[in-house]
Amino acid sequence: MKINRDSKVVVLTGAGISAESGIKTFRDADGLWENHAIEEVATPYAWQANPQLVWQFYQARRRQLLEVEPNMAHQALVKLEEFLGDNFLLITQNVDDLHGRAGSKNLIHMHGELRVLRCESCNEVFDYMEPEHLGADYVACENCASERLRPHIVWFHEMPLKMPEIYAAVEDCDIFITIGTSGHVYPAAGLIDIAKQSGALCIGVNLDHPLNLAQHDDFLLGRAGEILPKLVAEMID
Ligand code: OAD
Repeated sequence: MKINRDSKVVVLTGAGISAESGIKTFRDADGLWENHAIEEVATPYAWQANPQLVWQFYQARRRQLLEVEPNMAHQALVKLEEFLGDNFLLITQNVDDLHGRAGSKNLIHMHGELRVLRCESCNEVFDYMEPEHLGADYVACENCASERLRPHIVWFHEMPLKMPEIYAAVEDCDIFITIGTSGHVYPAAGLIDIAKQSGALCIGVNLDHPLNLAQHDDFLLGRAGEILPKLVAEMID
């Protein structure tokens, strides 16, 4: 399917796009995320009840970012953005920094970012990835001196970020592409419903069938790192 530079394309990515870079997806067969139940490490209640466990868990995920690299799928989306410019928006549920490091610019991290720590007292955010920010100790806020920054991650029971901007772009797009997401977690999983209602062509790329398979007009089964470079080449070459 060919597009032109006026086509408006919105892409939604999930954990599957980073799997080939060596980052585990959320819903692997054992139902655990890096050996933890999601409720143990990914809710505000867990942070209140057991901040040490939650802190150590995210510090390990943050350190892992130093060991992984963007893959062919991340790079293919950069090519698509270079072709479309401002008519391209990438929405990711991923908290890793691989899209940004690949070179994606028009990018929304709707579930937050591992690189970033946030102060619960003054709300300041800090892109902190130096060795002194990645150890076992809590990191203090430089702005208000609160002793403990939290991960800038949208936990269960918290609101995803930048939803008005996301809804506006999805309602206005011509093509909506989902990549590497299982369709379990809302509101991300429902964006395809909005795209469809607005008349967009909906394309999916995933290793297996997502829950919202039926909403896709065209579905490509397989690895994102193999499919995306071909798909983007077909669209723009
Ligand atoms: P999931 O782990 O639920 O789904 C990942 C999907 O990627 C699965 O359908 C896999 O089949 C697919 N997949 C795996 N390897 C792939 C590959 N190489 N190429 C293409 N697809 C592949 O992850 P998400 O849908 O991203 O939320 O999960 C959504 C949210 O649930 C996450 O953002 C996180 C989690 O709880 C928060 O942290 C708020």
